[in-house]
Amino acid sequence: MKCLEINKVTKRFGGLTAIKDLNLKIDESELRCIIGPNGAGKTTIFNLICGNLEPDDGQILFKGESLNGMSVAERSRLGIGRKFQSPAIFGCLTVRDNLEVAALGKASIRKITSPRTGKLQYQVEEVLEKIELKDKRDTVAQELSHGEKQWLEIGMVLTSSPLLLLLDEPTAGMTPAETYRTSKLIQRICEEIPAIVIEHDLKFVREIGTDITVLHRGSILAEGPIDEIAQDETVRQAYLGKKGL
Ligand SMILES: Nc1ncnc2c1ncn2[C@@H]1O[C@H](COP(=O)(O)OP(=O)(O)OP(=O)(O)O)[C@@H](O)[C@H]1O
Ligand SMILES: [Mg+2]
Repeated sequence: MKCLEINKVTKRFGGLTAIKDLNLKIDESELRCIIGPNGAGKTTIFNLICGNLEPDDGQILFKGESLNGMSVAERSRLGIGRKFQSPAIFGCLTVRDNLEVAALGKASIRKITSPRTGKLQYQVEEVLEKIELKDKRDTVAQELSHGEKQWLEIGMVLTSSPLLLLLDEPTAGMTPAETYRTSKLIQRICEEIPAIVIEHDLKFVREIGTDITVLHRGSILAEGPIDEIAQDETVRQAYLGKKGL
């Protein structure tokens, strides 16, 4: 069974067809990058997977179960974890408190009102380790660098133990060093969790060395390893040529 199956999905906004007859399948252990020009429909795919938008046509299956008609919260409970384009962290809280708040968001009221449990502490420590911010645990989030804020937000998504991770432009605005560190972080995470990463930075896409899907005007232009995609004439003309891949 696939982790995610998008079957012939179409999404229209008035006269604009943002996603057209889209088919996309993600395996249980897959890390997939989606690239494409501005307005190609990349974020719309995430909105359709997460339930912020409903398809006009077609079906989305998560672990064999249809997501059509399910709320954002229901899909999140099923294990779909999403990081948005801009970080949504609590600036006045420490790194560790941000992670605890995120972890508690998924817990019951009983757990929230009881003293901090060992399980929660362990979970937060594990995530701190994974995002390599252990030495920043007591730093107030607003004092973090741009890259560290992005890693913290990825960590906040990880506290809910997602079964599929969706990252929308995780390296936006990062320095080359931060971008490199993010590629390593995502590779580590994806040893355990399948993920879809929307990216503009092709150096990053090369770095994580995974299959890519090229989206253009709501349809898939090409799919496969980056070296094959880089040779594809249609892709070069529509997108990559301008990027000098
Ligand atoms: N809620 C909405 N209402 C109307 N039009 C929308 C809505 N969301 C997206 N669109 C339009 O759908 C198209 C695809 O948008 P989308 O945000 O998915 O592109 P994208 O590939 O993520 O672009 P970018 O690289 O700039 O983030 C665009 O033309 C956009 O203006
Ligand atoms: Mg977008």
